Amino acid sequence: MGAPRPAEGWGAPQTADNLPGGLSGTPEAARSRTTAAGTRVRMTQVEGKRALMDNDTSKPPKIACEKICKTFIQKGTQQVHVLEDISLEVFDNEFLVILGPGQSGKSTLLRIIAGLETPSTGRAILDGREVSGPGPDRGLVFQSYMLFAWRTVLGNVEMGPKLQGVGKKERREIAQHYIDLVGLKGFEKHYPHQLSGGMKQRVGIARAYANNPQVMLLDEPFGQLDAQTRLFMEKETERIWQAEKRTVIFVTNNIDEAIILGDRIVTMVGKLPGRMGPAYPVDLERPREPTDMRFLKLRYAITEASELVL
Ligand SMILES: Nc1ncnc2c1ncn2[C@@H]1O[C@H](COP(=O)(O)OP(=O)(O)OP(=O)(O)O)[C@@H](O)[C@H]1O
Ligand SMILES: [Mg+2]
Repeated sequence: MGAPRPAEGWGAPQTADNLPGGLSGTPEAARSRTTAAGTRVRMTQVEGKRALMDNDTSKPPKIACEKICKTFIQKGTQQVHVLEDISLEVFDNEFLVILGPGQSGKSTLLRIIAGLETPSTGRAILDGREVSGPGPDRGLVFQSYMLFAWRTVLGNVEMGPKLQGVGKKERREIAQHYIDLVGLKGFEKHYPHQLSGGMKQRVGIARAYANNPQVMLLDEPFGQLDAQTRLFMEKETERIWQAEKRTVIFVTNNIDEAIILGDRIVTMVGKLPGRMGPAYPVDLERPREPTDMRFLKLRYAITEASELVL
């Protein structure tokens, strides 16, 4: 397991003068294609060549959503059509961001992949098998911290391995490793109420990692944080993911967050039912600089094509 590393800085900002030939995300360069799963995606000419980024797309996808529709029944009879025809592939160790406005069904889709909801039609596939319920192969981090208030940081993080029957010494080592990795060394004996929002979400991330999941599912984990802490946590998320790669699906309604973090951004559009919108590979080196002209152009392209308001 890799040793914890300090957070890295943003690096030198780029200007229009030092941009390479192709610019990301220009709307006029956008074109459509259809993935194997049938998703209409909008790609730029430059980025389209590197579609789906550096992930090995010759292998079957780690996760696939096949024509998922979801309708909830409320108060016995009232139907709420939340998701319509969602097809999506996520590749091993890919950092996929699902970007969409409120009530476009993002959480519902993530919960279906997590096995916490069942689709009305269609299916979610993990490693070639249909998802039929939750499992330790998927780590979840939610917007609300969902920590055990009566347990310390260490107690929260070691809970997963404990439930899996891992012995005390080993689970302590696992928990300590992830506490160190998320930058909470020294806070092992603190209780959640003694932590800031960002620290609580670090505990949530460490707790999810401690189960050694192959897939991390994060649902707007930084939505409750102030802008500065949020940016810091985005950089931390990138650092942690680079230290210990996993297949990540990260849900957000924040365009900047999506571009900072994603290998690829899949947008969701519409309010009830939510549908797939264009997808955008993010062909920018990490760490990403929001003042980089290519960042801004991609931001513009996504904003223009989506219903999101800046
Ligand atoms: N269990 C449920 N029963 C009935 N309706 C539900 C249920 N869960 C979600 N919904 C409805 O589905 C719609 C989409 O909700 P969802 O939470 O998936 O959207 P979202 O894109 O995550 O929104 P936000 O960005 O606000 O978190 C909402 O109108 C919500 O009321
Ligand atoms: Mg949500």
